[in-house]
Amino acid sequence: MKAVILVGGKGTRLYPITCDTPKAMVPILNKPFLEYQIRYLKKYGVEDIILAMGYLPEPIQNYFGDGSEFGVHIVYLVEERPMGTAGAVKNAETLLDEPFFALNGDVLTGIDLAGMVKRHREIRPRATIALTPVEDPTIYGVVETDANGMVKRFVEKPSSQEVTTNMINAGIYILEPEILTRIPKSTFFMFEHDIFPSLLEEDEPISSYPSDAYWIDIGTPEKYLRLHHDLLLGEGQSSLYSQGEGSRHIRIESGSKIHPEARIEEPVLIGRDCIIAKGACVKGPAVLGVRCEVAEGAVVEGAVIWHDSKVGKAALLKNCIVASSSCIEDGCYIPSGCVVGDNVVIGEGSRLAPQTRIWPDNYFKAA
Ligand code: GDD
Ligand code: MG
Repeated sequence: MKAVILVGGKGTRLYPITCDTPKAMVPILNKPFLEYQIRYLKKYGVEDIILAMGYLPEPIQNYFGDGSEFGVHIVYLVEERPMGTAGAVKNAETLLDEPFFALNGDVLTGIDLAGMVKRHREIRPRATIALTPVEDPTIYGVVETDANGMVKRFVEKPSSQEVTTNMINAGIYILEPEILTRIPKSTFFMFEHDIFPSLLEEDEPISSYPSDAYWIDIGTPEKYLRLHHDLLLGEGQSSLYSQGEGSRHIRIESGSKIHPEARIEEPVLIGRDCIIAKGACVKGPAVLGVRCEVAEGAVVEGAVIWHDSKVGKAALLKNCIVASSSCIEDGCYIPSGCVVGDNVVIGEGSRLAPQTRIWPDNYFKAA
């Protein structure tokens, strides 16, 4: 089967992380998010992948090329303007003549795709939607089903009064190619607002594939951080992705220099060529990208620090994100004595004054 991955969104809820970096390329344990999705598909034998892109396509194309390095074949389709989730898949129509997967490009999950295909083949509906339970369904698409698992109702971003179930659209579909004939050409069109509700109105069958496997949409900084913590603490399905790192240990990549009087507490991933000075502390779950420096007496705890960032003397970074840009080679600099707290995002190009305190839930980006 082929898969279309939707990676054209702007990722605005992840700003400033996604100002210069497409959501698909934000690093998860120092590897682009999309790499995990591609490995996930490959694990189920899905090797023909179409990337439906719009916002910042070049970094994705440059990294993945024709896909051969990852054991898959990738075709890129770039929209001149956003076409919506269904409009983006319509663009791939000439490449799709059998049932295919369509995936939101910001979801990491262990949902069993083989089981989902089996269910789709047994029922042969127009579409099968993977479902996952969540605490707050109002920020997703809520999917009501009958006793046989057939979809009765699909409501995108319902008000709390409209919520009748905690099962939501997990952002993975198997679609019959005939569905594409319902999507007008060159028109902004959404599965969530236009296609699924209209299929249901016309009594066209949509089946569901509920799963309680690990599932997260990395749509916000808080969830981006939570995914790191889950993977490092082994609570997510890190083993699924066979990445090697994660799961309660310390991994220090080649060229990194850790002073004998620095303290490293698991689980921690330290990328290549980092320098951790005397008396500094990196306390897991935490990640440092390549070429980061942590100066004397600084503490990095529960934080995700992107490549080339420098943490000054006695600074404290706790449960925050330092997101250096892929366009700025010298990364971010956190001067000495700064304190940065829970869920704060320091965006690329930021210049903090020494001793600045940002705590908590603020977003900071230099003008
Ligand atoms: N190519 C392309 N073009 N991709 C798009 C476009 C577009 O115009 N618009 C959005 N996308 C991509 C985004 O990049 C993302 O990977 C995916 O489509 C979903 O968009 P989001 O903006 O992240 O949607 P959401 O998270 O609010 O809601 C969607 O996902 C939820 C699960 O995470 C919906 O499908 C919900 O029903 C679902 O529950
Ligand atoms: Mg999303």
